[in-house]
Amino acid sequence: MIGRLNHVAIAVTDLAAAANQYRTMLGAKVSAPQPEPAHGVTVVFVELPNTKVELLEPLGENSPIAAFLAKNTSGGIHHMCFEVDDILAARDSLKAAGARVLGDGNPKTGAHGKPVLFLHPKDFNGTLIELEQA
Ligand code: CO
Repeated sequence: MIGRLNHVAIAVTDLAAAANQYRTMLGAKVSAPQPEPAHGVTVVFVELPNTKVELLEPLGENSPIAAFLAKNTSGGIHHMCFEVDDILAARDSLKAAGARVLGDGNPKTGAHGKPVLFLHPKDFNGTLIELEQA
């Protein structure tokens, strides 16, 4: 069912410092910061040959990554995103297999303008999984 690893998302406390580290220490191509008010984060995309790393910083009062950063004070891997060909078929198949889909179960528009869903980390070895329509 799952295809390419679209991105690994890392929650950070200082987006400018993290972006600069990827740019200068790791020699990566790093985008300008992109505010995503609907998702409560500001994102920087690190472009790698085979996937992306997304650096996420909280934006606004009710950021969904605020609690994560309160527990992981130096930041950490927040989720992984796998591509699927048909997100509704993937959702239905996962729900039938007992996985919990977060929110109301309907896809939302993600950072790349495509439908996304999140799966409960307790159902996937402690890892929050995002599915994105390819
Ligand atoms: Co993501």
